[in-house]
Amino acid sequence: MKPKNLKTKIFLDSGDPKEAKEAFRFLSFLDGQTTNPTLISKNPEVAKKLARGEKLSERETLNFYRKTVQEIFQIIPRGSISIEVYADKTTTTEKMLAQAKEMYSWIKNARIKFPTTIEGIKAAQIAIKEGLRVNMTLCFSQEQAAAIFIALKKAKKGQAFLSPFIGRLDDRGENGMELIKNILKIRKEAKSKVEILTASVRKLEHLLYAIYLGSDIVTVPFHILKEWEKKGLIMPSKNFQYSAPDLKPIPYQKLDLNLPWGKFNLYHSLTEIGLEKFTKDWKSMVK
Ligand code: E4P
Repeated sequence: MKPKNLKTKIFLDSGDPKEAKEAFRFLSFLDGQTTNPTLISKNPEVAKKLARGEKLSERETLNFYRKTVQEIFQIIPRGSISIEVYADKTTTTEKMLAQAKEMYSWIKNARIKFPTTIEGIKAAQIAIKEGLRVNMTLCFSQEQAAAIFIALKKAKKGQAFLSPFIGRLDDRGENGMELIKNILKIRKEAKSKVEILTASVRKLEHLLYAIYLGSDIVTVPFHILKEWEKKGLIMPSKNFQYSAPDLKPIPYQKLDLNLPWGKFNLYHSLTEIGLEKFTKDWKSMVK
C-alpha cells in the first residue's frame, strides 16, 4: 500500500520490462519508468545477443527500444515512460526532434529525454511548443537547472521534468543530494512548473532524502525498490538526517534568473562524459 504521506512520485529506472512487471507487483502505485541507452543495452534479451557476438542494425536497435517501451507501457499504462534520444556532441536540434517525434508516437504516455545541452534545450523548446512531454537529462549543476527553468517557461504543468543525476556526483566525491536541495530552491524563485526528478539513485538513503526534500519524482533502480519494500516502504521521519560526511558540499548559488537562458554556463564535464557513455552503449548494440 502507498505510504500515507508519500507525495513524491516513484519511478522505476530500468530498461527491462520484467523488472517493471515485478516492481508493479509489489508497488501497485508505481508512477512511471525511466529508460536510457545504457539501460536498454543491459536488457537481458540484448545482453544475451551481444554475449553471442550478435549485433543489430540501426533500425533493429530502434525497433528493439520501441518493443521494450511498448512492453513497459502494457505494464504501467497510466504511468509516465521516458525514452531518450540518441545524442552525441554533433547531433543537431533537428535530428533530436526527428527522433523525438518518432519515439513519442510509440506509446500514449511517452516523454522524451533530451540532454541538458544547447542543442538539447533548443529541441525541448520546440517539442514543448508542439505539445510533447519532455525530460531534461544529464543535469549536474545549478546553472544548467536555471537555464532549463527559463528556457522552458512555456511548459504547462506536467509537461517538463528536469533530471539531476545525484549518484554520479557522489561517485566523484560531491554531495549530489545538495544539488537537489539547491535546485528546488532555484525552482521556487524562478516560479517554474518544471518538475524535479531525482535520478542516478545509488542507495535507499537517496530515495528517502529525495522524499524528505520534496523532490517531485524519484527514479529508482529495481534492487533499491526491492530493499524499500522489504523494509516496509519506510518513510523519512520529520527529523530525518541525511549523512554524507565524506562528500564535498555543493553550496547554493545565487543566480540572476532574469538573464536569458543562453547566458548560463551549460558546460559540465559529467554531461559530456554522460553523452559519451550513452552513445557508446547504444553503439555497442549496433552492427
Ligand atoms: C534516469 O533517468 C537516468 O538515466 C539514470 O538514473 C542514470 O543512472 P546512473 O547514473 O546510475 O547511470
